[in-house]
Amino acid sequence: MPIVWEPRLDTGIEVIDEQHKRIVNYISQLEAARRSGDRNQVMAVIEELVDYTQSHFGFEEAMMEEAGYEFLKPHQKVHELFIKRVTEFTMRAAKGEDIAEELQHTLTRWLMNHIANEDHNYAEAVKRMVARKQQAAVTTPAAATSKGLFASLLKRFFR
Ligand SMILES: [Fe+2]
Repeated sequence: MPIVWEPRLDTGIEVIDEQHKRIVNYISQLEAARRSGDRNQVMAVIEELVDYTQSHFGFEEAMMEEAGYEFLKPHQKVHELFIKRVTEFTMRAAKGEDIAEELQHTLTRWLMNHIANEDHNYAEAVKRMVARKQQAAVTTPAAATSKGLFASLLKRFFR
């Protein structure tokens, strides 16, 4: 089944929702490549998807840290396990196994679940951090705004 964006996946944090939508878009690309039967294309999409998801995880973790999110450590652990699992898939693929369909289904299930649950759990803490920064910017014009923070995190984690 094709993956589509659902409102339940929205965190209400624009910069994060954009990244999540891009991941969903990569999963659609994977499905299209798989259907076309072009193995090189499938491998290229998997590589991009994994690379992008890793950058996204780094961004999220730095953002959660900045927000002082209390469950940062377990969230990081979940990201780590996910990358490990995907790496196992890519190793099987490198040996010539056709893992595209299984990977697509695993990614769809796992990411949708992760976004709707674990990512939703940090949304409040991050929104509080954004509000705090906004407040600080009112009283101290030189204070770093959340816009500035997100811009520097984007630069740090995405090429
Ligand atoms: Fe996450």
